[in-house]
Amino acid sequence: MAGNWKMYKTPQETVRFFERFKPLLSANHACDVVIFPAAIDIPAAVHAIAGTSIQIGGQNLYWAKEGAYTGETSAAMLSAAGATWVVVGHSERRHHVAHETDADVLKKTQAAVAASLTPIVCVGECLEEHKAGKAHEVLIRQFAGGIAGLTEEQFAQIVIAYEPVWAIGTGHTATPEIASKAHTLIRSEAEKRFGEDAANRLRILYGGSVKPENIQGLMKEPEIDGTLVGGASLDAESFARIIAAA
Ligand code: PGA
Repeated sequence: MAGNWKMYKTPQETVRFFERFKPLLSANHACDVVIFPAAIDIPAAVHAIAGTSIQIGGQNLYWAKEGAYTGETSAAMLSAAGATWVVVGHSERRHHVAHETDADVLKKTQAAVAASLTPIVCVGECLEEHKAGKAHEVLIRQFAGGIAGLTEEQFAQIVIAYEPVWAIGTGHTATPEIASKAHTLIRSEAEKRFGEDAANRLRILYGGSVKPENIQGLMKEPEIDGTLVGGASLDAESFARIIAAA
């Protein structure tokens, strides 16, 4: 269960979140819990989760080791700051912030794995593509252009998130059936390229307007292994309820 905070919260607000969140999280939750704060908040978050099973990730990385890349953060920097995960290819970066391509997503995923970060690689179709019935075509293209370029060893380290762009921050979550069909397609693409075992082991998260009210329906689908939660992860109570329901 992953919480993507996007460009919300200061370091002080991060500390306050964990003060509330930690006591709400039952000690025996049976899943990975990862929060992705803004890069500036990672040290505060890492400090706040010490001694718990909560993990911290970056929201983005750049593939070069270091260099003249103003505003970017390397995998090694994230790792040195205590992050163990990273989101790659979020639709807000693909479509708005940085126009990331599938080829960029591949390079970022490879850099993350090389630094022992677990990447959550995001895929998903836009509203127009959804309306035109092209969702599965888009997923196949994104898989072929990005994830398929990994080696089998690299692929074994990644998590994929299906995030239909029309469901992100809109309140219109995909129905469990729509999400499940997309996940099945992604898993079959994974099987074609990396084999049955690798495909069965792959964790596929759903993301897009996940809330305490709709989490149970989504998690009942055997194809949905977890969720990537934006807005509802900003509030400690609501994210804890999502994790408890999952
Ligand atoms: P949302 O965002 O839960 O606010 O729709 C999900 C995401 O962008 O990962």
